[in-house]
Amino acid sequence: MKKYLKEDWPMYLIFLIIIIVITSGLLSESKTNPDVIFNEKQPDYWIAPSLYTDHITTGEQRRMVIYGEDLIAHTSSYFGPHGSIKQISNGMNCQNCHLDAGTRPYANNYGAVASTYPKFRDRSGTIDNISGRVNDCFERSLNGKAINTSGYEMKSIITFIKWLGQNVKKGEKPKGAGITDLPYLDRAASPIKGEIVYNQKCKSCHGNDGQGVENSKAIGYTYPPLWGEHSYNTGAGLFRLSRFAGYVRDNMPFNQATHQAPVLSDEEAWDVAAFVNFQPRPKADMTRDWPNISAKPLDHPFGPYTDGFSEQQHKYGPFKPIVTKRKEMKKMAPVMEVNKIKN
Ligand code: HEC
Ligand code: HEC
Repeated sequence: MKKYLKEDWPMYLIFLIIIIVITSGLLSESKTNPDVIFNEKQPDYWIAPSLYTDHITTGEQRRMVIYGEDLIAHTSSYFGPHGSIKQISNGMNCQNCHLDAGTRPYANNYGAVASTYPKFRDRSGTIDNISGRVNDCFERSLNGKAINTSGYEMKSIITFIKWLGQNVKKGEKPKGAGITDLPYLDRAASPIKGEIVYNQKCKSCHGNDGQGVENSKAIGYTYPPLWGEHSYNTGAGLFRLSRFAGYVRDNMPFNQATHQAPVLSDEEAWDVAAFVNFQPRPKADMTRDWPNISAKPLDHPFGPYTDGFSEQQHKYGPFKPIVTKRKEMKKMAPVMEVNKIKN
């Protein structure tokens, strides 16, 4: 027996080497093959569902989800100046501001729409449903007209938006939904500094006069306009400095900046917002907005206000003193009510 072992030692050695090679191969495969990764961290922000993995949404509902997404991505083909359905908007697509048809994290997506609408909105002073909100963007961001709320197009847009938000609990706004709120600067945003940012980091695509670049078929834009007659109007969400700054910090220059790795600093984002919104653009009829004027957001750029700050300061900041004053006013409110009753 002993003799037998001694003579065969080279064979045992070869056997051992083969086992080592095989196990180390398996180990290294587990590092590279995604199927063997168990501890990969899931992102902690909202991710849109995908039709590729959704086999439950079928038939007419699936067709409406697909059509709704197409209307968001190629709005101008249907409703632009040469639109196939109606010619009622400025040629921009919803997707120009709601990236990837409203599915991209931190890019003004629709992740929290199904979960939070219908909701009371201070701007209208009424309870708005999704169709009302969509038409707000048609009238303001697309500087156009509202579409029929009971038509197939609106129904498809709503079906798509509800499908997108299907996994979000009612009432919740997940991380990464909508636009990021940037911290306020200690100073007013500066259109002069913003112009420098614009020339260095935006002009190459959006143009010398912010007019953008139309696509070759003149349906929509390769680079959408940032001001001028074809841009969003003064009632649009982006005309509020904080919305513009938050959107641009996380997403511009296009496909270079992300929330995790922005190209602009917060300061540059506020300043370029001030520069762009300072330029001429269509005016909106806002006579019916903000029935309760004390509910206007800090950066709503049109008076009157109840907090005593000027229109200029509400437009460009500094916003921190307004925040402080409003907090004080809130604390005082019950006292003032009591005084009113006494008098
Ligand atoms: C010029 C940019 C722009 C365009 C174009 C645009 N939107 Fe918007 N939209 C915004 C901004 C800004 C907001 C407000 C986001 C906020 O308040 O944080 C908004 C808000 C919304 C909301 C509500 C989101 C929420 O979470 O409350 C919906 C729904 C919406 N848009 C749909 C559309 C549709 C549909 C279109 C195309 C018909 C469109 N938008 C075109 C800029 C735009
Ligand atoms: C590489 C080209 C490129 C650069 C540089 C760039 N953008 Fe954009 N921008 C785009 C494109 C393309 C879109 C529309 C995205 C879409 O439709 O998917 C867009 C959309 C926008 C929008 C929303 C739509 C609109 O027209 O109102 C704003 C606001 C914007 N960009 C601001 C900026 C600012 C500010 C800068 C500079 C910091 C900048 N962009 C730099 C290509 C660019």
